[in-house]
Amino acid sequence: MHAPLSLLVLALAGTSLALPAPPRRREPGAWCNNLGGGAFDIAYNFTLAAYNSTGTNTNSTGVPLVLGQAGATTGEEIKALSTYASFPYNDFPNLSLLEGALIPNGQATASDANVTAGEPPNFVVTNLNPPAPAQIYCAIADTDPAGGGTGYPILAVHGDPDSFSLCATGTSPRAQNNVVYKASANALGYDFSSCYPVRLQLVGLY
Ligand SMILES: *[C@@H]1O[C@H](CO)[C@@H](O)[C@H](O)[C@H]1NC(C)=O
Ligand SMILES: *[C@@H]1O[C@H](CO)[C@@H](O)[C@H](O)[C@H]1NC(C)=O
Ligand SMILES: *[C@@H]1O[C@H](CO)[C@@H](O)[C@H](O)[C@H]1NC(C)=O
Ligand SMILES: *[C@@H]1O[C@H](CO)[C@@H](O)[C@H](O)[C@H]1NC(C)=O
Ligand SMILES: *[C@@H]1O[C@H](CO)[C@@H](O)[C@H](O)[C@H]1NC(C)=O
Repeated sequence: MHAPLSLLVLALAGTSLALPAPPRRREPGAWCNNLGGGAFDIAYNFTLAAYNSTGTNTNSTGVPLVLGQAGATTGEEIKALSTYASFPYNDFPNLSLLEGALIPNGQATASDANVTAGEPPNFVVTNLNPPAPAQIYCAIADTDPAGGGTGYPILAVHGDPDSFSLCATGTSPRAQNNVVYKASANALGYDFSSCYPVRLQLVGLY
């Protein structure tokens, strides 16, 4: 004799209730607020690449970025995100996102600094007392394959993934090409007319 369907459904429901609950994903911090369900703020050993948001790209990865020089003061060096093509050194082979802090991984101790409109995102390298990292970054997974993304997660700062540009530090062909947040014609340190908008992609996550 067959059990009525409703009983079978109840039995199955009972089985699934007995299964252990899936592990709860850690909720990301406030620096990921309003960035949707794909937002996350912990990731290890990835590289960044700049994808031209409005122009053409040779591939879906974008242009590889490294930590480029951006000045020095006593006991510390300042770094920016530069295209490898314009700064062909790679002292920090990858970065980690640690609860909103974007930390370069290399031989020396590095930390991220706060990011201001019109300025490049900066990093401080020092063997003295590194400043407390700024918890301002968030990554957003590409959860919509049809949505025009490339499949790579993208980086946001201050809850904003759409305000990064690549700008040349000058008009010489050998000028560094650096990431700037909310590039502005009034800012010093780069040639505003060279700027074009990019998405910063996290490459190498599994
Ligand atoms: C990241 O790289 C470091 C240094 O090579 C390694 O110790 C660590 O296990 C890596 N972390 C992950 C999650 O792969
Ligand atoms: C990116 O796209 C812009 C158009 O918005 C274009 O002017 C610029 O040359 C492109 N950059 C590269 C490196 O292809
Ligand atoms: C993608 O294209 C850029 C040049 O625009 C190049 O530097 C980079 O190596 C390419 N990346 C891959 C994964 O092929
Ligand atoms: C990340 O960089 C560290 C150097 O700090 C290196 O030891 C490690 O192999 C790199 N990991 C990956 C996955 O590239
Ligand atoms: C970091 O920068 C943002 C944007 O410029 C600003 O609103 C915020 O007050 C700064 N935070 C600190 C700790 O300086």
